[in-house]
Order: sequence, then C-alpha cells, then structure tokens
Amino acid sequence: DDSLYKSMKKAGRSFIGTALTIRTNETREQEIVKADFNSFTPENAMKWESTEPSRNNFTFEDADRYAAYAKKNKLQIHCHNFVWHSQLPAWVSNGGFDNKTLIAIMENHIKTLATRYKDVCTRWDVVNEALNDNGTYRSSVWYDTIGDAFLPIAFRFANKYVSKNTELFYNDYNLEYNSNKTAGAARIVKLIKSYGVRINGVGYQAHLTSEATSSSPSPTPDQKTLETALRATSDLGVDVVYTEVDVRMNTPSTPAKLKVQADAFERIAKSCIAVKRCIGMTVWGISDKYSWIPGVFPSEGAALLWDDKYVKKPAYSGFLKGI
Ligand code: XIL
Repeated sequence: DDSLYKSMKKAGRSFIGTALTIRTNETREQEIVKADFNSFTPENAMKWESTEPSRNNFTFEDADRYAAYAKKNKLQIHCHNFVWHSQLPAWVSNGGFDNKTLIAIMENHIKTLATRYKDVCTRWDVVNEALNDNGTYRSSVWYDTIGDAFLPIAFRFANKYVSKNTELFYNDYNLEYNSNKTAGAARIVKLIKSYGVRINGVGYQAHLTSEATSSSPSPTPDQKTLETALRATSDLGVDVVYTEVDVRMNTPSTPAKLKVQADAFERIAKSCIAVKRCIGMTVWGISDKYSWIPGVFPSEGAALLWDDKYVKKPAYSGFLKGI
C-alpha cells in the first residue's frame, strides 16, 4: 500500500495525521491530505491567543474553518489545545488573577471551545507542556497560581464539556527518551486519576533530530528506548500517540543525512506499532516548505516527509515501512 493512513488502519490502529494550516494556494497539500492522512491537528487556530484574545471575547472564524474542513473531508481532528503557557495572551499570563478567578477563566475557556467543537473533536490536548526537561513542573501562570491541581482541574472541566467520545490527552515534548520527563508524564497520569478524573491518553510530541544539533544533543533514540518510553504511560491504562512528529537536521540536507532521517522515521513508526495502545501518529506538517523548524531553530530543518517541492523524501518511505 502507498498510503500512510491506510497502512496504519491495516495495522489495526486508528490514524495518521498531519498538522494543518489551510492554504488555499497550495493544491498539492490538499491532494496529499486526501491520499495519506485521516486526521489533522489545527497548527495554530484553536490556541488561546487565536480563540480568546481578550477576556470572554471569543474569535472563532479561523477555528471554524478547520472544523468545517474536517467534516467536509471526513477527517478526525486532534484539537489543540486548552491549557498551555505559550501562545497564551498577556491578559491571562500577566493578569495577576487569584487562584479562584484563574480557575473561572480556565473553565470559561474550556467550556466555550469544548461546546462549540463538541461534535468534531476526536481528541483534545487538555494540557500542553506542563513539565521541565528534568521532570519537575514548569513555572507558568497556571502552575504558579493554582499548583499541580491545575492539571486535574483542567481535565475535570474538559470532561464536563466535551463529548463522551472525545479522548482527553496530556501532551508534551522530549518524552521519547525514557527520561525523568517521561516519568513526569506518568506522574501526571496518576495524579489526574487520583482525583477520579478522566484522562485517556498521553501525546508524545516527538520533535526529534536525526543528528546532534545545537538545539538537541541527542538524536532520535533507538527503537527499544522509544517503546519503553511509550510503555511508561500506556502501562498505566491510557492510549499513547505521537502527536507532532518531525525529525530535524542541520541544513542543508545531503543524501546521506536523508537516509539517517528515514531510519529515524522508520523506528518511530515501528515503536508505535510495537506498543498495543499506540493508536496513531501525527507528523507536524506536510512539506519542509512550511515547517516551523527553521523559524525556531536556526540552521535546522528538512524535518518532514515531503521536500520544498512536495516530492516524497526517503523519510516518507522509511515511515511507511515502519507502519
Ligand atoms: C508551533 C506551530 O507549528 C507554529 O506555527 C507556531 O508559530 C508555534 O507553534 N509544540 C506544540 C505546537 O504543541 O503547538 C507548536 O506549534 C510546536 C511545539
């Protein structure tokens, strides 16, 4: 088979997704979505800064296009996200709200988005990136004001307003190394369950590298480490997903580097298939042309499955082979 999601379905799993920014001038993107993906994550449209730029002033024009796109094309949506420290407007992060007020602001935000997209969200990232790399909680307006209870509180609100069929996820990066941060994610799953609150899954972002770069000394782990990292949370009775896969390198790419990258994509896919509760994988974009990597990690990039010209890279074959 030469379709990512069809192979994934044959493997008995649910989906292969892409981060999506709808661009009306790029017809190749539309064709590729159709051929290879049965799920997408809105790349920015559902984030707090896009949906509630000032208090209780909700702007849904952009997010609504994604909901409509999913319905029209019969795609799953990984809705992203309710509670995060980043792309959070200053009125929230610098508002100086007390615990009670901040919790009310959180509930209002979650309630409004969850209700509006109730029938389209297959999964929701309820909390994004609450951990430091050493596994402790990251300082943010949420943690600093509410403490670690902000996590179960957010999941409780999410559960209250989403459809019963929508899966609720905790999502973070650098969970793939089976490190203290992975243990931190397991601790979060247990914490939420200890409050008697529903959590269905953990998202492993998997923003990885194929070689040492200045932003990341460790290249994509071996398959066994990836599997062990997934099992650290799936053994607690939740699903796991690779939510934002890309494998960046120092640019420019060379044929040799593209081969190393293809091998990394292959073992990422294999690790998912090896873990029973790994239900799907989302790559963070289609073409290298629009990847977020070069803008954030200077001199790094070429991280996706299609090159600037929408030609399939060795990484595509590697990923497909691993599924
Ligand atoms: C990135 C988007 O790809 C960019 O377009 C945006 O400028 C910044 O955010 N972790 C996440 C994603 O959870 O939301 C981020 O997406 C990448 C890192």
